[in-house]
Amino acid sequence: MTNETGSSLENLFELALQAAQNAYAPYSNFRVGAALRLSNGEIVTGANVENASFGLTICAERSALVRAVAQFGPDIRIEAVAVANLKGLPSPPCGACRQMLAEFIDPDAPVTFPSAGGTRTMSFDEVLPVGFEFKLK
Ligand code: THU
Repeated sequence: MTNETGSSLENLFELALQAAQNAYAPYSNFRVGAALRLSNGEIVTGANVENASFGLTICAERSALVRAVAQFGPDIRIEAVAVANLKGLPSPPCGACRQMLAEFIDPDAPVTFPSAGGTRTMSFDEVLPVGFEFKLK
């Protein structure tokens, strides 16, 4: 699935965990962090930011993604993703975040997230096997 070294994914997971400390989650009290490793060698983190109008909440993964594009431009490529939360509960990326990541991520990029009994790593094409694509002819 991936030839990623375990230690670099563990490091990315630790950065996601640290990023979760910055979450704004007064409604759910579920603080999530995400870390993206980019092909330019940079690591960009994000955290969830909730809103009183619940639907406006942005997840940690999308927070990291928009930060990465804003900082490094539209040609970024994501090589690896880690998601963490401060409750030690399972938290794979939600469907909306998977679809957003799809624009910038390689199909074989590893995605590490908290799962029952530890972390789990899947390739992105396992995480989102049939994403929406929009290509006009
Ligand atoms: N959340 C994330 O940050 N990432 C996900 O992939 C799923 C959910 C956040 C959104 C909300 O602030 C809290 O977790 C509870 O749903």
